[in-house]
Amino acid sequence: MKKSYFGDFGGQFVPELLMPPLFELEKAIAEIVHGPEFQRRFAELLADYVGRPSPLYRCPNLSADTGLNIWLKREDLNHTGAHKINNTMGQALLARMMGKPRIIAETGAGQHGVATATAAAMMGLECVVYMGAVDVARQAHNVRRMELLGTTVVAVHTGTKTLKDATNQAFKDWIANQRTTHYCIGSVVGPHPFPTLVRDFQSVIGREARSQFAAKTGGDLPAAVVACVGGGSNAMGLFHEFVPHASVRIIGVEAAGSGEPGCYHSASLCKGTPGILHGAKTQLLQDADGQIEPSHSIAAGLDYPGTGPEHAALKASGRATYVCVNDAQAFAAFKILCRREGIIPALESSHAVAYVLDNVSAFAPGDHVIINLSGRGDKDLDIVEQLLKAEQKG
Ligand SMILES: Cc1ncc(COP(=O)(O)O)c(C=O)c1O
Repeated sequence: MKKSYFGDFGGQFVPELLMPPLFELEKAIAEIVHGPEFQRRFAELLADYVGRPSPLYRCPNLSADTGLNIWLKREDLNHTGAHKINNTMGQALLARMMGKPRIIAETGAGQHGVATATAAAMMGLECVVYMGAVDVARQAHNVRRMELLGTTVVAVHTGTKTLKDATNQAFKDWIANQRTTHYCIGSVVGPHPFPTLVRDFQSVIGREARSQFAAKTGGDLPAAVVACVGGGSNAMGLFHEFVPHASVRIIGVEAAGSGEPGCYHSASLCKGTPGILHGAKTQLLQDADGQIEPSHSIAAGLDYPGTGPEHAALKASGRATYVCVNDAQAFAAFKILCRREGIIPALESSHAVAYVLDNVSAFAPGDHVIINLSGRGDKDLDIVEQLLKAEQKG
């Protein structure tokens, strides 16, 4: 298999001008990231700054309600409130060790933007974050947080004004400023070596979950691991450790939007087709001419018309199953987690919770199911308020 591919997916479908920084990055990964000094500093940052390990928590009430053993991997308890910080600490440290004074990022929900701004502030790097104008409006708190951290947020007004358009803009910046700048991509997407780099930085989630599960239950492996999939980084972070263990079911949950026929959604694995987006061959939402179709989800972080190539390969091989959950199901699960466990989840993570709660019969009674709680819901309170008002109006 070619090293830049996962099965038939991945690769480097980029303009020639992007090849030099991709080569430089690949070399830096081999020489810096795989070296002991980087690994020591990264482990120290994850422990002392991010607050790892994040707990693995058995939900007593949801377990009683469903007859399953439901476990949450609490990435919401990380510094900045989501899994995104695992990756940005790694990439910012790499940028510093490469001697790059500036980092750029794209963001949808704003969580990756906040996590990049945080890492940049802490490591003394200049930081610019591109964000679709629609997302700037619906994630205003995160824009304020980034600005407080000293980052410049650039609103992108092209296309659907969401994550895809922000990513296009970030690639343009990288082409123009490659000598001084590292592009801190926010998920397991983009051209090689990004999908592998981001997965490796996030794979701490699955390693911890496995050893915590063994320590708490005396058992070896859970029956299933479940995570929401936008670009796919929290999911790959959890899944990677379990892929070689065939007894563990791997379930990725995509956003079905409103769920009505003909509606926009973000289910590129369930409903998309193979094509090329942001430098990689993957599953995506496109029309018959290969033009990218608009995506939608109430969860801004899932609102992306593509997904990481490793997920496309896991689906093609049958090792992982991908399902989708609509906005209403995710919102119902959001409320249940608030009321039954005292945890306010991100709307993204609520999709993964919803799949398990709505499909209890897909598991055997007593099965141990680990759900990745990828982030906390504070950023979503404005959207939740609107949804509650709409519900009251009936
Ligand atoms: C809390 C949370 N979960 C999930 C995602 C989706 O990203 P990914 O699929 O890369 O984990 C996001 C993206 O912003 C997020 O903020």
